[in-house]
Amino acid sequence: MKRSLRAAVIGLGSAGSAHARILRSLEHVTLVAVADTEPTRLGEFDGVHSVRNIDELLHLELDYCVVATPTADHERIGLALATAGIHALIERPLAPSAPAAIRLARAFEGAGLVGAVVHIERYDTTVKELGLRLRRGDFGAVYQVAVRRHEGCAERADVVTSMGADIIDLAMWLIGRHVTSVAANASRDGAPRYEDHAVILLRLSGGEIANIEISRSSPHREWVVVVRTASGCVEADALTRTLTYYAEDKTISYEVPISEPLRSQHEAFRDALLGLPSDIAMLREGAAVVAATEAVLTSARMGACVTPADHFLTPG
Ligand SMILES: NC(=O)c1ccc[n+]([C@@H]2O[C@H](COP(=O)([O-])OP(=O)(O)OC[C@H]3O[C@@H](n4cnc5c(N)ncnc54)[C@H](O)[C@@H]3O)[C@@H](O)[C@H]2O)c1
Repeated sequence: MKRSLRAAVIGLGSAGSAHARILRSLEHVTLVAVADTEPTRLGEFDGVHSVRNIDELLHLELDYCVVATPTADHERIGLALATAGIHALIERPLAPSAPAAIRLARAFEGAGLVGAVVHIERYDTTVKELGLRLRRGDFGAVYQVAVRRHEGCAERADVVTSMGADIIDLAMWLIGRHVTSVAANASRDGAPRYEDHAVILLRLSGGEIANIEISRSSPHREWVVVVRTASGCVEADALTRTLTYYAEDKTISYEVPISEPLRSQHEAFRDALLGLPSDIAMLREGAAVVAATEAVLTSARMGACVTPADHFLTPG
């Protein structure tokens, strides 16, 4: 490798600060700039350019930029980066609507740039190991993915567009298909602003099903993926870091290598820029997730089965 990739982060809230921390120690990458409209957020980043907005970033000969501003700004900032020929890794949800998300995906594809979205659950150590083995065909064809993810975390969005988005991306990645229909229910604890619990049933394009149970206000944590395949059943427990395969005549436990999910994701994005094999979620996948989460919320509100908007499937 001739030189380090020049990277920046825009938006230094809780998500952006974590990205900047990783970029400061990522091999083959140099964090050269950070940007935030709020000057107090810039203070802690010595030795890098500190600027206030996207326009000031565009002159710093960046290879790529991580976009971690609030979701409402992703499209405007992403389009400015694409126009300037700068690759981007954009936080989730990719955009506030599926049409905005697909405009972003098309802008990066049209410019021949790598545009990717942060969907962290496919980088959880145990789940990633499950995904690598499934995608390699170790367990045969996938029929069903069941996910239970219960947390006691506070986020400023409904559980479907936050945790649910990452899990829907995970289901599509594990199965290697897109969502064709959704039936869902969601509810709130008492009177909070957003949905706290959801049960989501997805049909995927190869006829597979995914059933997803999520909540973010549970005192009991659970983070389990169970996959039924042609040869048996495999269970990943991300909390205990165990991966177990069950067939009629045997049970096998696999070693799970330890890695930090956010770092693995940044390594995957960097590898995509370097032309190496990478399992980063591309913007088109992020747009498919936005379309699926919209369908989930519509289904939960209408009490009906919903087909996600499919404009993300067609090129151009
Ligand atoms: N915080 C998390 O755990 C988390 C997890 C997953 C995804 N995300 C996503 O990351 C994004 C940011 O979330 P957050 O929780 O870090 O938000 P935040 O509000 O904590 O931080 C956003 C930062 O962006 C800055 N900002 C706003 N508009 C800007 C602009 N136009 N130019 C430059 N800076 C600007 C703000 O001053 C602030 O410092 C969102 O899309 C969110 O959905 C966050």
